[in-house]
Amino acid sequence: MKIPEVLFSFRNMRKSFGSVEALRDGSIDIRPGYCHAIVGDNGAGKSTFLKLIAGAEVPDGGTEIGPNGQEVRITSPQDAMELGIATVYQNLALAENRSVAENVFLGNEPRRFGMIRRREMEERAAVALRKITTRDIPIGALVSNLSGGQRQAVALSRAVVDETKTVVLLDEPTAALGIQESRHVLDAIRGLRDTGMGVVMISHSLAHVFEVADDITVFRAGRVTAFLQRAETTPDEVVSYITGLAGAGDTEEDS
Ligand SMILES: Nc1ncnc2c1ncn2[C@@H]1O[C@H](COP(=O)(O)OP(=O)(O)OP(=O)(O)O)[C@@H](O)[C@H]1O
Ligand SMILES: [Mg+2]
Repeated sequence: MKIPEVLFSFRNMRKSFGSVEALRDGSIDIRPGYCHAIVGDNGAGKSTFLKLIAGAEVPDGGTEIGPNGQEVRITSPQDAMELGIATVYQNLALAENRSVAENVFLGNEPRRFGMIRRREMEERAAVALRKITTRDIPIGALVSNLSGGQRQAVALSRAVVDETKTVVLLDEPTAALGIQESRHVLDAIRGLRDTGMGVVMISHSLAHVFEVADDITVFRAGRVTAFLQRAETTPDEVVSYITGLAGAGDTEEDS
């Protein structure tokens, strides 16, 4: 089997907040066209790790390899964005009183002579949304009228319209959603992955992870305890790494 191309490799990433070692040893490979789930118990360091990749926090140590195998240093959200990494935050940061199309482009609207090219904007937003969801999301509707799942789709489609983006980071994208809405978001995540982007998703729902993830990395007490392929593992095995029952004893020295 051909070794798949990697967009980014993060190795041995560390981050402390004062005396709290939030992340002791975080590593991940992000592959194009794959969804990589990060799982682990509360406080395992998942969000901290994602924030380092997003540039929202600056690491204390570790190695970051970016495009063409070059070492990179992500120290701000701007750095991450310039490297092609998009982040969808939990609060989604949508503008309630703007249309779907405006939210897909927010701050990045196609313009000519300073004027927003509304028609082009709406067409491109519709194309982006169709790539990730089969659901009809009215392009002219106000975001305040959308359901939670539709909002997620709008947030995800931002990464699709921006052709400079190759990676999307998602921290618990289905956390606040019901069953139906989660289903739509999972569909959109698959759609995103199928555009060839690398998707990294933190989730507490192993059911959701087993639905959309290809790769699974388990964090426990700030360290990676397992890297698994979805097709070759089971929820029970993943749980055993989350709880530390697999290979028990090797994370006990830190308390
Ligand atoms: N800004 C901060 N200041 C101080 N401590 C922090 C900060 N951010 C995170 N921590 C601590 O670092 C540890 C890891 O937190 P993190 O949010 O990364 O965990 P998580 O795996 O995302 O957990 P959850 O599943 O609950 O979201 C926790 O003990 C947390 O309290
Ligand atoms: Mg978290």
